[in-house]
Amino acid sequence: MKRAASTFFVMIALAGCGGAASVPETPAPVTALDDARGGRLFDHWARELGRTDFVPDARATAGAADGQGGPTSDGTLRLPDGRVLLNDGGHDYRLKNLLGWDLRGRAGLYGPSLMNKPYALETDALAWPGSVREIADRLERGEGDLPAYGDVLARHELEEIAAFVVRMRDGELPRATDVLALTSPDAGHYALREGGDATRGARLYAERCASCHGDDGTAILFDEGAYSLGSHARQKAYEDWLKILNGQPGSPMGRQVRGETAAEMRQEILDLLAALCDRQRFPRGEASSDDVPDGDPRCGAYLR
Ligand code: HEC
Repeated sequence: MKRAASTFFVMIALAGCGGAASVPETPAPVTALDDARGGRLFDHWARELGRTDFVPDARATAGAADGQGGPTSDGTLRLPDGRVLLNDGGHDYRLKNLLGWDLRGRAGLYGPSLMNKPYALETDALAWPGSVREIADRLERGEGDLPAYGDVLARHELEEIAAFVVRMRDGELPRATDVLALTSPDAGHYALREGGDATRGARLYAERCASCHGDDGTAILFDEGAYSLGSHARQKAYEDWLKILNGQPGSPMGRQVRGETAAEMRQEILDLLAALCDRQRFPRGEASSDDVPDGDPRCGAYLR
């Protein structure tokens, strides 16, 4: 009898997770929200949550909704005005794609003067006012061309993303532009900022990263073998800063910074990225994609 009763309870509890908005939930206190997980959900929610049931609408078939899962079972998400957002351009419904690695939409890295991503929104999440709860509301119902993430994410997950946004907005987490300066397409879009300590970065690397990535960063190759950690960091530090800050979605790698303040975290990230600019110490290895040439502006004076 006891067993049957607890099974029944579990089923009710699971049914409640489906997102039916009728049962009021007590909001978690903001301090209890895991903003590193929020950052990983921002980066790639489906991968972080292992949601293989959600197959995004195929990018190649413009105009047709032909994925799986989601509110209309075709791999799309709904906009607040009732239209569906197709995956044309290949954003895959990642917030990182709609808002960019710097969270600033077309005002930042993905904007028209830099990477000019067709799917980047006019929305600058770092300019969103309000509390964690209010920003979670915004994500839940969507806004303009931002789809309603409440159809695929639980309230707690939305609040984790909101906590990540709010802490970055309010200066408790470093921003992309604290670590790198946005430049121009000709200069590779960005340059690492000055003040990084590559010697300390190499020490942090040995302590925190080498066990998984290998002593020289070639143990795991990324993007189907195209990059080692070093060659990736020398060309895509605008991605790697966020990975170091929050971890890699759906992998054993969590937040890698340990500082209490945004300034301390910024320094750890900048030191690591400065160290990874050393092509001898962190070589390309067996990776298939070219490394950067001498004088490449992205690593600037850190390039070795
Ligand atoms: C517990 C193991 C582990 C630790 C510790 C770890 N990583 Fe990772 N890291 C991974 C795994 C696994 C991946 C995912 C590889 C993939 O997705 O193909 C990854 C991915 C990454 C990526 C993403 C690259 C991309 O293209 O998506 C970066 C950048 C990175 N790690 C940097 C670091 C740095 C810097 C450190 C140390 C400060 C570190 N990692 C510590 C396991 C780890």
